[in-house]
Amino acid sequence: MEKMLRKISLDDIEIPNIPDIAVRVLALLEDEYCPLKRLEEFILEDQALTAYILRIANAPFYKSGKSINTLTDAIMTIGMHNIVALVSVISLISQAATEGQDTDLMRHAIAVSTASALLARHAKVVTEDEALIAGLLHDIGKLVLFANAPSHYKAAKEKVKKEKRPFAEIENELFGFDHCDIGCMVARKWRLPGLYENTIRHHHDEEIKNFTDSQTIGYDDLLCSIVRLADKVVLDAGAGSGKSTEKNPQALLDLLKIGESVYIEIAKKIGG
Ligand SMILES: [Fe+2]
Ligand SMILES: [Fe+2]
Repeated sequence: MEKMLRKISLDDIEIPNIPDIAVRVLALLEDEYCPLKRLEEFILEDQALTAYILRIANAPFYKSGKSINTLTDAIMTIGMHNIVALVSVISLISQAATEGQDTDLMRHAIAVSTASALLARHAKVVTEDEALIAGLLHDIGKLVLFANAPSHYKAAKEKVKKEKRPFAEIENELFGFDHCDIGCMVARKWRLPGLYENTIRHHHDEEIKNFTDSQTIGYDDLLCSIVRLADKVVLDAGAGSGKSTEKNPQALLDLLKIGESVYIEIAKKIGG
């Protein structure tokens, strides 16, 4: 299978422009006279987008009794400053889901987003809304690979399934780059906030294991650590492709001061 693949380089991957809907949301936000109500009305025009936003905002509260029923509450939960990143990634996720029926990518993104918010709630070192968005965005490079080079994405996915190894490891073997490289290019082109670019770039790096104290590492790396743990929880629960790259999750739990029982409880929520 690998031999039949045309050789591609990172330059062959066309990085999409930020989705139109996100440009329009950005324009609304730039108008200082735009009230929240106008933003809400605009989003409500798109039923699928509204449903996704409500689903994502509600996910961390699933089974806890609290529910978010209105778009205003959802926007407040997610944070106005995150709305452009949110709308952009939802647009890309739903495109991948409808065009190629790769619902795995969507399921994985939403589950990691939920697990990240739940971990952030316990770790109390980053905000829940940023964890939610970082989790949703972390594998954005896979979405672009899927849309741009579907046969290559499929080949990587099949090899991952057969060999039960991490996705990024297989991508590097097959192409010489991985979804973190692609995702980073997307984050720059879309001008996503630097803290999200950091998570997209480093969520499969090894170096973070050297950190032992949350006081000595920066906010962006703490957020990245949350998403790394969330990614492991979700992949272990079977939502997504391949094995987690985390060889020492205990180091991340220690860094974030999250007890094993909390981790197990979150894993149960995600798995069940
Ligand atoms: Fe990843
Ligand atoms: Fe992932």
